[in-house]
Amino acid sequence: MEPVFATHPTLHWNDGLALGVEAIDEEHKVWLDLVRTFQQAVADGEAPAAVYAAIVEALIYTERHFANEEALMQETGYPHLDDHRAQHARAAAELHAVTEGKTGEEELIAYIGSFLPNWLLLHINTADRKFAAWLKEQRAAAADGVMAA
Ligand SMILES: [Fe+2]
Repeated sequence: MEPVFATHPTLHWNDGLALGVEAIDEEHKVWLDLVRTFQQAVADGEAPAAVYAAIVEALIYTERHFANEEALMQETGYPHLDDHRAQHARAAAELHAVTEGKTGEEELIAYIGSFLPNWLLLHINTADRKFAAWLKEQRAAAADGVMAA
């Protein structure tokens, strides 16, 4: 039998994905688990209702995660917040478009099972990593300031 997700990345958390900002890393772990649950439901041929429930859970969490990340960026005064927010907004708009029933089932499954996880892994490793590096620098500088005072 053909693998259902021939092109999807393995969505298991690994330390290579860690950004060193605990709040974000913890959310990324949950997010990967939710998408993997969805992929498993499809691969196991579960009933459409179960697959749909897994999609909805993954999507709700995605939006919550984006909002939490943006809130942390806002709080800490991240200078590239606008750009990051735009990346999230584009991804969220695509998610909505594919889940509004305008795409066929196969396209939807390909999107959630393959495109979305690929996008998220890329996003974690580029944009999120850039923010984490910036945040760690800020925190280190703040700690140095406290020590020097
Ligand atoms: Fe992000």
